[in-house]
Amino acid sequence: MNDYLKRSNKFSEMFKDKTQLLIVDIDNTLIGNQQAVHRFAEVFDKMHSYTGFGIASGRRLDSAVNILREWQTPTPELWITSVGSEINYGPSLLKNKEWELHIKEQWQPEAIQELLKATPGLTQQPAVVQRPYKISFDVMDSVGFNLSELEERFHQHNILANIIYSHGKHVDVLPHRASKGKAIQFISEQLNFPAHKILVAGDSGNDTEMLKTEMAGVVVGNYSQELEDLKKTDGIYFAQKTYADGIIEGLFHYNFIR
Ligand code: GLC
Ligand code: MG
Repeated sequence: MNDYLKRSNKFSEMFKDKTQLLIVDIDNTLIGNQQAVHRFAEVFDKMHSYTGFGIASGRRLDSAVNILREWQTPTPELWITSVGSEINYGPSLLKNKEWELHIKEQWQPEAIQELLKATPGLTQQPAVVQRPYKISFDVMDSVGFNLSELEERFHQHNILANIIYSHGKHVDVLPHRASKGKAIQFISEQLNFPAHKILVAGDSGNDTEMLKTEMAGVVVGNYSQELEDLKKTDGIYFAQKTYADGIIEGLFHYNFIR
């Protein structure tokens, strides 16, 4: 096993009584309907003794903490933020340093910046959302944008990276080993948690990778267009209900509620 998978004691200690994990996207999945958040909090309260709770979001850690407080959601034990390029845990938001060591490999932020700046139709997102392992641009004209072409340009320049397109608008470039899905897989190995004991829920493009894994995947009813294709993938549950009600529906579907 990779050295970086050594788990910190504090990290595994936190999940020692949990038999399953619930990891959800924030925007338009966990939050979006306040009544649904209340219903979710009630359901989750009954499962908490045996269920670990995490979020996986495109937001920065501080922004994720603030928005969840505002929406009065249950408090996560696990924070996967900046599209999976950062992992923190516990009440003091400790950094999972092994993850950083793991994703660092072959990361070339300067070369990526240059290439994106030279790509027509892309504009850089504000400085506050740029992270050490996440470079984010927006597409000015989604009709003219072609993801495969951009991937091809990266390839031609010998840049290894993970390009994630979501909401028909955002382009996040991450180290090739990073994504929400890869972060969750890393955690499941660190904690020795089998994939089928992890339920993930999302609504948009940056959730694709985590939904496609062997974990119990749930797409909420209000999903965005780019996830339509996932209907062809076996084993992903498309909920009828929207936002946090869709998560609850998924918990029942996969028998995560005892
Ligand atoms: C969040 C981030 C943004 C990213 C988007 C999609 O909005 O702030 O940088 O592009 O999620 O992942
Ligand atoms: Mg979302």
